Amino acid sequence: MLAWAARTMARPSGMLKPVALRKLTGRYLAHQQELPALPVPPLQQTLDHYLLALQPIISEEELSHTRALVEEFRKPGGVGERLQKGLERRARKQENWLSDWWLKTAYLEYRLPVVVHSSPGVVLPKQDFQDRQGQLRFAAKLIEGALDFKTMIDNETLPVEYLGGKPLCMNQYYQILSSCRIPGPKRDSVVNYARGKKPPTHITVVHNFQFFELDVYASDGTPLTTDQIFIQLEKIWNTSLQTNKEPIGILTTNHRNSWAHAYNNLIKDKTNKESVRSIEKSIFTVCLDAPIPRVSDDIYRSRVAAQMLHGGGSRWNSGNRWFDKTLQFIVAEDGSCGLVYEHAPAEGPPIVALLDHVVEYTKKPELVRTPMVPLPMPKKLRFNITPEIKDDIEKAKRNLNIMVQDLDITAVVFHHFGKNFPKSQKISPDAFIQIALQLAYYRMYKEACATYESASLRMFRLGRTDTIRSASVDSLKFTKAMDDTGKPDPEKAELLRRATQAHRAYTDMAITGNAIDRHLLGLKLQAIQDLVSMPELFMDTAYAVAMHFNLSTSQVPAKTDCVMCFGPVVPDGYGVCYNPMADHINFAISAFNSCAETNAARMAHYLQKALLDMRQLLQENPKSKL
Ligand code: COA
Repeated sequence: MLAWAARTMARPSGMLKPVALRKLTGRYLAHQQELPALPVPPLQQTLDHYLLALQPIISEEELSHTRALVEEFRKPGGVGERLQKGLERRARKQENWLSDWWLKTAYLEYRLPVVVHSSPGVVLPKQDFQDRQGQLRFAAKLIEGALDFKTMIDNETLPVEYLGGKPLCMNQYYQILSSCRIPGPKRDSVVNYARGKKPPTHITVVHNFQFFELDVYASDGTPLTTDQIFIQLEKIWNTSLQTNKEPIGILTTNHRNSWAHAYNNLIKDKTNKESVRSIEKSIFTVCLDAPIPRVSDDIYRSRVAAQMLHGGGSRWNSGNRWFDKTLQFIVAEDGSCGLVYEHAPAEGPPIVALLDHVVEYTKKPELVRTPMVPLPMPKKLRFNITPEIKDDIEKAKRNLNIMVQDLDITAVVFHHFGKNFPKSQKISPDAFIQIALQLAYYRMYKEACATYESASLRMFRLGRTDTIRSASVDSLKFTKAMDDTGKPDPEKAELLRRATQAHRAYTDMAITGNAIDRHLLGLKLQAIQDLVSMPELFMDTAYAVAMHFNLSTSQVPAKTDCVMCFGPVVPDGYGVCYNPMADHINFAISAFNSCAETNAARMAHYLQKALLDMRQLLQENPKSKL
């Protein structure tokens, strides 16, 4: 969601085949063609909003310097206008002027490991099984549920989603199955086998670091049933009891350049190449994890969040993954479960919609017992480990273990109220939570910081996200006033209401394609493409401050009582993801242990206090009816 935030600092764009729009006909295409194209916002509007967005996060002196740069940039006939025209030309020629650039800049050219830095995880509620039987039964049902969802994708019968009454682009749903990221020396790529002549019919199952190809369709093309999948999973389990295998999947956790190098080395061997291709082509991956270390109930969720993000390290389950795979379900023997997904093809909401469907499916009673027909043994994917590959694995293990040590993550349930309370106050719940985050941060650091909240651009064809800048002039007025004993409470309550309205107004601006971040990025990339010298505006310290998102946040709502989690996007920042339910809110907050100034549990404490204080303020100071 999020890693991109720090990455908009510019990388030249080059030649790359983007994830193409799936070649489909019928309902899907008809729907897609109805969607409007992403607009290029007016230049002057973006520049005015940029100056406003800087106000709460930089000094007056810096701001006056930036104002002068903006004036220069916006002059009639100046560089700004020239770049804007270039963008408008691009928008006329392309299906979406941003999507290809965004995919490359935010994901494929990003070189840090996908683990922690880019791939989000999802924590599901603990399931009530404690042993292998229960684990495999649940995994089998989950697989059947995911295949049921796949049928809707394949038949193009997925119901169209809406935001604010407007239909959304459904393309991301067609990118998440049978796809995989492939490391490249300077830039990665994404392959999608779903639209090939012979779409894959297998999934990948990993147990004890050993990979298996499991065909999940019968010869007549119907999906296997839970009973049949269960038998197949048992076979896999029984043939992978040894725990002394090389954790080949650890390679996918490395820095992208190192992994690209190791990848080329790995696939020189024919057997290895076939195994890697099988994983890449598979519909999705199911990781049958060893039980996670026992911890007390109060830190259990945080422990699972870490498990979903990185697998716990080389001695635990990190080798039980192929982190480049778009979708990996994780089912541990102790009932912990969730998923991790590679971010390039999709945002959280489609992934969570799939998960909601799967979770509902697992709750259905199994009414019909399937007659048992003999099924072939799932294919074990073999790897020949040369000394060089072994060396690459060892290096990847070391780097991963450092990352695991460094991640500080807290997953909490705020159980005092959920989105019903702000709604009862006629306030947007999302705005309420974001302003609480601003208050928490201000109380901790006595200043505001550049804050990123992802906003959906899916109202537009191939739309991904833009940024809602939650630190605003109005949010800072409120956070400063809140603990000011000289200010009367009714005034504080009024400032709070105004701050939430400003946030909601920014949200509306963002989802209708009028936010500033992607536009500024577009102007910058246009300058690189046109080979003109980089405008001063983008070399300015204020721009660097604006792009240094100490708070990187996202709402990922779900029907299931789960929470998505992700790492911070800067070394001294927080990653905050939340799922507001009617009467409680699930949060996951991350930071890095190597930064002395940040602490996820402390942020969680301040956030909960901010939410409670804000509720009290509103309840004690109701809005005047006049
Ligand atoms: N009074 C009463 N109710 C209100 C209200 C108000 N002033 N404002 C909003 N509400 C209601 C809404 O109608 C909605 O009702 P519902 O629960 O029945 O659906 C609910 O409160 C939630 O609205 P709100 O909190 O304003 O958020 P939203 O649903 O509009 O979402 C974003 C806001 C920014 C999260 C959303 O627009 C978006 O872009 N989501 C995608 C984010 C994304 O891609 N994240 C993943 C990155 S990996």
